[in-house]
Amino acid sequence: MNELNSAKFAFLDIYHELKPENRCRFARWVGGFAESEIDSLPPTQTEETLIQIADTLRMDIEPPGGKLPNEITRKPEDEEDEVVEVDEFLYPDNVLKETDFSTSECAVCKSKNINDLEMVSHSMSQDELTVLFEEIKDFDVMVDIGSRTGCILYAAHLMTKAKEIIGIEIDDEWCKIQDNVVQKFGMQDRIKIVSDDVKSEKSKKILSKADLTIMNNPFQWFSKDNGKQDFECILKNLKAGSRVLLCHIEEKDIPVTLGDYLVETTPENPVVNGPDHAWIDELKAYRIFKVLEKTN
Ligand SMILES: C[S@@+](CC[C@H](N)C(=O)[O-])C[C@H]1O[C@@H](n2cnc3c(N)ncnc32)[C@H](O)[C@@H]1O
Repeated sequence: MNELNSAKFAFLDIYHELKPENRCRFARWVGGFAESEIDSLPPTQTEETLIQIADTLRMDIEPPGGKLPNEITRKPEDEEDEVVEVDEFLYPDNVLKETDFSTSECAVCKSKNINDLEMVSHSMSQDELTVLFEEIKDFDVMVDIGSRTGCILYAAHLMTKAKEIIGIEIDDEWCKIQDNVVQKFGMQDRIKIVSDDVKSEKSKKILSKADLTIMNNPFQWFSKDNGKQDFECILKNLKAGSRVLLCHIEEKDIPVTLGDYLVETTPENPVVNGPDHAWIDELKAYRIFKVLEKTN
């Protein structure tokens, strides 16, 4: 029995048992109570370390943290013009609100007559990371393709017993930043940062030994053709029987036929009160697959 899920369901039961006219007042009261609790409850040891890592990284990376000063990304053609690139790991909502970067008023004239900005995050949030590694812990070698800030690697180090945790990142500046965090937080025993293209020979060797390969939408904003060549190269080099986690990638943006290489194993009917429930809640933008035996 997962205590957190039981609590969520108990809460929803209470909420739905209320008369409709009382629900709004109750929800506002819960919101106010939760807001003050969030500020007063101490984070867990893992959350505390992730917060410290984000604090360290923010010293060099300005809000909203979507890009390094000289970094070039490619806005997908079907994306809104106003979309803002952010980094949820470095600048979660509560931290972003404390900065001069405004998501809800004009930073120049302070006008309130504005639209909310659409945001796209280039990293996983701290909550997603915590839920992810509560769900998936049983692997020896993990690879994050396009590891960027390295947040997935740090969370894996804090929350799992994986023997090798490898980030492959094409941007050398991000690799230096990750290396600094790894040294500073003493994580070099199990984390390795590989500064290379995922299509390099070195990367292929790493992919072929991974038990879990994570791709948090690595190519849509960073490669031509939604990363068709990258996807093909990765999928051809993965170990049969290993697992692949795809996060925040819509089906229409996957430039290959996944079924040629993978079989989906995302829990379809998650256990309502059990840990699997995360797949329809916090991890609803996540899909997990098993790599098929090669046919040729
Ligand atoms: C959306 S970010 C993912 C960040 C990180 N995995 C996370 O979830 O927090 C994608 C990253 O992939 C990197 N990338 C793009 N193409 C790559 C390639 N061919 N080889 C290695 N890294 C690549 C980009 O530089 C970028 O930092």
